Amino acid sequence: MSTHDKVNILMVDDQPAKLLSYEAILDELDENLIRANSGREAMEILLKSDVAVVLMDVSMPELDGFELADIIRQHPRFEKTAIIFISAVHLTDIDRLKGYQRGAVDYISVPVVPELLRAKVSVFAELHRKKRDLEMLNFELRCLSGRLITTQDEERRRLSREMHDGFGQDLIATKMVVERISLSNDCPEWSRQASADASGVLENVIQQVRNMSHLLHPPMLDEVGLKSALEWYLDGVAKRSGREISIDIKPSNFPRFTPKLETTVFRIIQEALTNVFRHSGASKAWVTLAEAQCQVVFAVRDNGKGISEKVMEFQPDRIGVGIAGMKQRAKEWGGNLEIANANPGTIVQVTIPVTVGVRREATTMAFHQAEKIAK
Ligand SMILES: Nc1ncnc2c1ncn2[C@@H]1O[C@H](COP(=O)(O)OP(=O)(O)OP(=O)(O)O)[C@@H](O)[C@H]1O
Ligand SMILES: [Mg+2]
Repeated sequence: MSTHDKVNILMVDDQPAKLLSYEAILDELDENLIRANSGREAMEILLKSDVAVVLMDVSMPELDGFELADIIRQHPRFEKTAIIFISAVHLTDIDRLKGYQRGAVDYISVPVVPELLRAKVSVFAELHRKKRDLEMLNFELRCLSGRLITTQDEERRRLSREMHDGFGQDLIATKMVVERISLSNDCPEWSRQASADASGVLENVIQQVRNMSHLLHPPMLDEVGLKSALEWYLDGVAKRSGREISIDIKPSNFPRFTPKLETTVFRIIQEALTNVFRHSGASKAWVTLAEAQCQVVFAVRDNGKGISEKVMEFQPDRIGVGIAGMKQRAKEWGGNLEIANANPGTIVQVTIPVTVGVRREATTMAFHQAEKIAK
């Protein structure tokens, strides 16, 4: 016996004897066979279970097969459900066309040839099983990439802290030791000079470590929020790149959100700006961020060379980890990311719905802050 996951096959006919004969024919497929004596019963079963194929008689007294197919197709969940019509009378091409227009997928005439019926049902059952497996794999993939992004954010946060608290503190201590050498009275001049040089180099390294640590995860993001973290980040990028970046955040008292959502917005803007400087050749970039009508809406625009159609359509062979990651981050929140030509330049626009629980109210924030200080 096969070990496949069984799918449901719904057989609809007003004559019990016919249902029994279909059952006998289809038994060896080893699927779940469900019987319905009327259109109404068929609808009830369809609404309650996941049906792979509907096998139905064209001529039934209350509701004929075509009428039932019409009703089934009206429901969005069954738009693509496979239907096999069984007809005792010869169907003209016009009849068949009528069926196909309703999205019907196949016909079989009476007398039913058992092998043919089994072959047709088994093809649709297999297709349904593959579709179900694919949906499951897609779901797992989405969960996995969501977890990957969260892990990456946590890892960056941990590295940032370790660089700052471990490496950074040791460097500061080393600098202090080096500086003490020059303070000693019996220190020769050449040694005083060498210690001053070493101190200068160490200061440089301390600043670099600090910058790297902050870029990995801006401490401001946790403490004072998205607005200040973005202003700090964009100021640094503008200085380093020598390009003009304007920022517009509304309202001026921009609300606080959960750390996960604030990180999402920060990372998308960070990735989009990295792309501006790596690919666009722009001299200027604009960043806008607003919260209104239960949505966080933000955009990064540049005045560079513009974007190709293929990247706008997110064609997998044209986009890299950057755009795929930005899109996935937005999707995780039920949001949407679009890339378009801004003529001149490119615009990346993101909308994320603000659902219940993602906003951090001032009182809760004050409570957490107090809790942190108490620890
Ligand atoms: N602002 C922009 N202006 C012009 N082209 C852009 C812009 N942003 C992205 N692109 C194009 O889209 C492509 C895909 O971007 P994406 O960020 O996904 O990958 P990447 O930057 O090439 O590599 P990485 O995976 O390191 O981010 C880029 O290679 C570039 O050709
Ligand atoms: Mg990129």
